[in-house]
Amino acid sequence: MTTTLPPALAERLAAAGQQHLIQHAATLPAAAAAEFCQQLTGIDWPRVAQLTQAAIQNATVTAGSVAKAEVHPPRDLVRLPQAPADHARWNEAWERGWEALRSGKVGVIVVAGGQGTRLGSSSPKGMYPIGPLSQAPLFQLFCEQLRTWRRRAGCAIPYAVMTSSATHAETLAFFESQSWYGLPPEDLRLFQQGHMPAVDASTGAALLSAPGQLALSPDGHGGMLAAMAHAEILQDWASRGIETLFYHQVDNPSTPLCDPAFLGWHLLRQSEVSTKVVAKRDAQEKMGVLVEVGGVTQIIEYSDLPQELAEQLDERGRLRIWCGNTAMHIFQREFLERALVDDRALPFHTARKAVPYLDATAVLQTPQQPNAFKFERFMFDTLPWAKTALVVEGSRADEFNPVKNGQGQDSPETARTALQAMYRRWLRAAGVSIGDDVPVEISPLVAVTAEDLLNQFPAGTAITEPLHLTPERLQQFQS
Ligand code: UD1
Repeated sequence: MTTTLPPALAERLAAAGQQHLIQHAATLPAAAAAEFCQQLTGIDWPRVAQLTQAAIQNATVTAGSVAKAEVHPPRDLVRLPQAPADHARWNEAWERGWEALRSGKVGVIVVAGGQGTRLGSSSPKGMYPIGPLSQAPLFQLFCEQLRTWRRRAGCAIPYAVMTSSATHAETLAFFESQSWYGLPPEDLRLFQQGHMPAVDASTGAALLSAPGQLALSPDGHGGMLAAMAHAEILQDWASRGIETLFYHQVDNPSTPLCDPAFLGWHLLRQSEVSTKVVAKRDAQEKMGVLVEVGGVTQIIEYSDLPQELAEQLDERGRLRIWCGNTAMHIFQREFLERALVDDRALPFHTARKAVPYLDATAVLQTPQQPNAFKFERFMFDTLPWAKTALVVEGSRADEFNPVKNGQGQDSPETARTALQAMYRRWLRAAGVSIGDDVPVEISPLVAVTAEDLLNQFPAGTAITEPLHLTPERLQQFQS
C-alpha cells in the first residue's frame, strides 16, 4: 500500500519545487511514510525555496564582497589594562559584573550543536576529555566553574546547553550519567536547535540521506534564539529576573565563564551585545574578525574576509584587522527578544558542501566535491542590530585555547599545554614553586582565577610531582 501526503503539505512542496519528495513518499511503506511526512512538515519550505534560488543565482556570494567597503578595526574597544588607571577601571568593571552575578541576573549559554568533524571525534565535542591530568571533559570544566561562581554568588546561575539532532541524545545521556555535574536540573537545561535540509547545488532539489530521510544539518548557532524560545527558556529566565546572558562555544576549555570584568564592562557601557576578542595569531588564522563598517560594529567570518584585507599591516607592521572573535559574547535578554521577532537580525548563510545523498536509483553516493548547499544562521549577525555593541580585549594565553583539530594548531595537545602553563602561572603568583616540566591541573572547584589561589599555600611550598589540585588535595597542603 502506498501513502500520499496530506494535500496542503504536497502543495507546499510543489510550490517550493520539491515534487520529487511527493513521489518519494509514495514509494515508502506506511510507517516510514508517516515519519517522512512528519519530517517534511517541520521544514519551512518557502524559506528553503527562497534561499535555494538566491544561492543558485549567486553561487559565489560573499567572499570578496566586503573588499570595497570601508573596513576598520572597532573604535569602541576596551583594551587590556596597561597603566595603573586602567587597572582601576577594570576593577570597577569587575565589581559591577560581580554585583550582577550576586543579584541573580546572569544566565549562561553554551552552543554545543556542532558535529566536531574537524576534531575527528564522532561524539559531541563537550564530552571530549581535555583535563591535562584528570581527562575531565569540556562539559565538566564548564559545569565546575559554574558551581564555584554559584557558591560564591549565593544564588542560581542557570546554564542552557544547546544541542542539535546530531548531538542531543548522546549529550543528554552523558549529563544523566554524570548526575548533571551536581547542578540542579532546573538550572541545567538542554535544548535542541533546529535543522535545515541540504539541497542539490544545481537543481535545488532537497537531498535524501536514506529512504524516507531528508539530508538534514543543524541550522547554525543562530538557531539558538528560536530554539530557546521554543523550549521556553527565554521566558523562564525572564520570569526569574535573568537580564544578561553570557554566551560561549563548547570548544574552548579556557573560557572564563561568568567573567565578572567582561560582564561589568558590558553593563557599565550599557551594551546590548559585547564580544571578547584576542589578537589573531596570523592573517590565516580561522577566526572571524570584529570590525567597523560604516560606523557599525560587526563580525566578518574568516571565510568571507578577503585575503588582502586579512593580510593588511598597520604602520607598526601588525595586522590591521586584528580583533579575532573568541565567540564569547554577552547579550542583554531584551535585545535577544527583539532579535527573535525581527527576521532581518539572523539572515541565513549559504555554504557549498559535499553531502552524501541517495541518487535516483536509491544508491547512496558520497561525493568528494561540494554538490550541495547548506544553510546556517550565525548568532553574531545580530551585532549590527544592537544599539550599542562593545568589544573587550581578553588575554589570548589565558582565555582562548580552542580545540578544533585532531593534531597541530588548536588541538587537544595545544589546549592542554596552554592550560598547564596558566595553572603554573597561577601557582607561582601564589608563591608556590613549580618547574615547567611538572604536569599540573587545577580543578575549577578550587580556583577559577589566579586570585583564588592567593594565601592558600604555606610559605615555601614547592611542587615537584604531578599535581591535580582538587579541594581535597588543597586541604592536604593546608593541614
Ligand atoms: C567559530 C566562529 C569564528 C570564531 C571561532 C572562534 C562561526 C561561524 N565562526 O568558528 O568567528 O572566530 O569560532 O573559535 O561560529 N555550533 C552549534 N550549532 C551549529 C553550528 C555550530 O551549536 O549548527 C557550535 C559548535 O558546537 C561550536 C560553535 O558553534 O561550539 C562554533 O562552531 P564551528 O563551526 O566549529 O566554528 P568555527 O569555524 O571554529
